[in-house]
Amino acid sequence: MCGIVGYVGEKDAQEFLLQGLKRLEYRGYDSAGIATLNQEKQPTLLRAVGKIKNLEEKIKNHRTSDHLGIGHTRWATHGNPTENNAHPHQAGSIFLVHNGIIENYQDLKKQLTSHKFQSDTDTEVLAALIDSFYQAGSISLEDAVTQALKLVKGTFGIAVLSVLDPKHLVVARSGSPLVIGVGDQETLIASDASALVGHTKKAIYLNDGEIALVSKDHIEVKTLDLQPVSAQVEEILTDLSAIQKGGYDHFLLKEIMEQPTSLKETLRGRINQSEHFVHLGGPGLTPKELKSIHHLIMVGCGTAYYAAQTAAYLLEQFLPDVTIEPVIASEYRYRQAYIPDHSVALIISQSGETADTLACLREIKGQGIKTIGIVNAIGSTIAREVDGGTYVHAGPEISVASTKAFTSQVTALLMFGLTIAEVKGVNSRLLAPIIEEIAQLPDEIARILQSVNPLMSNLAHQYKDYQHAIYLGRDVNYPIALEGALKLKEISYIDANAYPTGELKHGPIALIDDRFFEVVILQSGFLFQKSLSGIQEVLARGGHVVVFTDTDFDLPVESVIKIDTNFTILTPILFNLLNQLFAYHMAVAKGNNVDQPRNLAKSVTVE
Ligand code: F6R
Repeated sequence: MCGIVGYVGEKDAQEFLLQGLKRLEYRGYDSAGIATLNQEKQPTLLRAVGKIKNLEEKIKNHRTSDHLGIGHTRWATHGNPTENNAHPHQAGSIFLVHNGIIENYQDLKKQLTSHKFQSDTDTEVLAALIDSFYQAGSISLEDAVTQALKLVKGTFGIAVLSVLDPKHLVVARSGSPLVIGVGDQETLIASDASALVGHTKKAIYLNDGEIALVSKDHIEVKTLDLQPVSAQVEEILTDLSAIQKGGYDHFLLKEIMEQPTSLKETLRGRINQSEHFVHLGGPGLTPKELKSIHHLIMVGCGTAYYAAQTAAYLLEQFLPDVTIEPVIASEYRYRQAYIPDHSVALIISQSGETADTLACLREIKGQGIKTIGIVNAIGSTIAREVDGGTYVHAGPEISVASTKAFTSQVTALLMFGLTIAEVKGVNSRLLAPIIEEIAQLPDEIARILQSVNPLMSNLAHQYKDYQHAIYLGRDVNYPIALEGALKLKEISYIDANAYPTGELKHGPIALIDDRFFEVVILQSGFLFQKSLSGIQEVLARGGHVVVFTDTDFDLPVESVIKIDTNFTILTPILFNLLNQLFAYHMAVAKGNNVDQPRNLAKSVTVE
């Protein structure tokens, strides 16, 4: 979703802003712009629709040596992706970039009669509002911004410059993240710390309701009521290699292939294989609290929700007295759902910024229920607001489609469940094989990825021209089928839906014809024979069946990818690697933009 960068220092502001925006490209956007200011108080505003390279061309033709500026990648909400709607927006002396949504912008706009609006955006309204306060009297830029923000309903992360003040930027946040990078004779602004990597390791993460006045050598953080805040400087742990492609053609393939190492980070220090013991430090629940849990709500969107569903099937196998309720955040936030006593809510999010998930967190927390974050992005809003949390430590996920985060989320949820089971005294003979497989999972993933990746390109070429796909799976493999279908649709743009295999005959089987192919996740053991019957039903209707399996079987399907594994419990996580690689190779075969699929944003910070 939208990205913000800002610079005040001694170096070339255009260069930093451009590089920073490139770092934020992965979040998804449809236009971009920068505004810089020189010491003679002359601004340069450059904006372009489409990819950053279009903006880069404009910058080449309008090079400045300015040392202060702001930049933005916009993902259209109010108004089409046009140059006029792109940020920064100008009103009088004010230039503004904004992430979030100003909900009452239409009311505010009616009152701002002296400004001639150039765009359809809510952001320009805020720029005009700030300008109206700034013009009205002898007040500082910071005061003008706070006056304006007091009138605003909605969410914002903003960076503001005024042509009257070539030494300062003002930034503020409420519901949309902002990080201030502390450099040597320079201060950097970004909505996501990845834009700061390589420039500084020191950062201040603004909290909701805070504003900062920054110059190249000074940062002053206050509340929006202008009360001083003693801001904490934190370390940025990400290094450059984590946000580079590292020899792969796409971030997506890199992130799929690095799952053995990202998962090792998820497990590090948390699992004792020889003593069959899991220790998850972050949640901060006492053994008594863990023991009393009888209901787990797992909240997430998209892939994070499917991770919750996958984990729910696994957890209920060894937590007999706990009901597990995976919920879709965008739905749950508006439900009047009863939350029983002895509940804990697990808030699952890769980015830690997803608006719907965050809203659920606040709602549930407001009801006095303990909230535990299962979050990847360090320092993100959800990670900061939960009562306790477990970082999944999968490392930055740049490609829009979520892959390694899923594997780490499922595993972290599983470890949380095991922690509860241990305290509840669940028979260790039941838990030991699960812990064993978790401990071996990184190596097993490495083996499967190496053996299967070379097969997937051919498979993709065979199926890339189909218009529709149906994914089928039973039990834990049903959410795996859902995740497979999501991955395929979002990057290959093939219409893909998933059903529990047993549901086929209750409706979806009517669809089957030559426009469709069917991917069936077929696991040996429990429900194997029943899954075979499902495949037979599809074959009997002339279906084009692809089977992802861990066993041999005797049915005349079109294609089979068989993994060689001794796993039994976590095999569905291995099947999902096949889903990921298949979707990746399909997108490549179709010539799509793999890492930045159309219409999607990496971090969905608006409702
Ligand atoms: C799918 C995908 C999305 C995200 C969803 C939640 O590949 O990336 O479905 O999983 O938007 O995002 P987070 O985990 O950041 O809350």
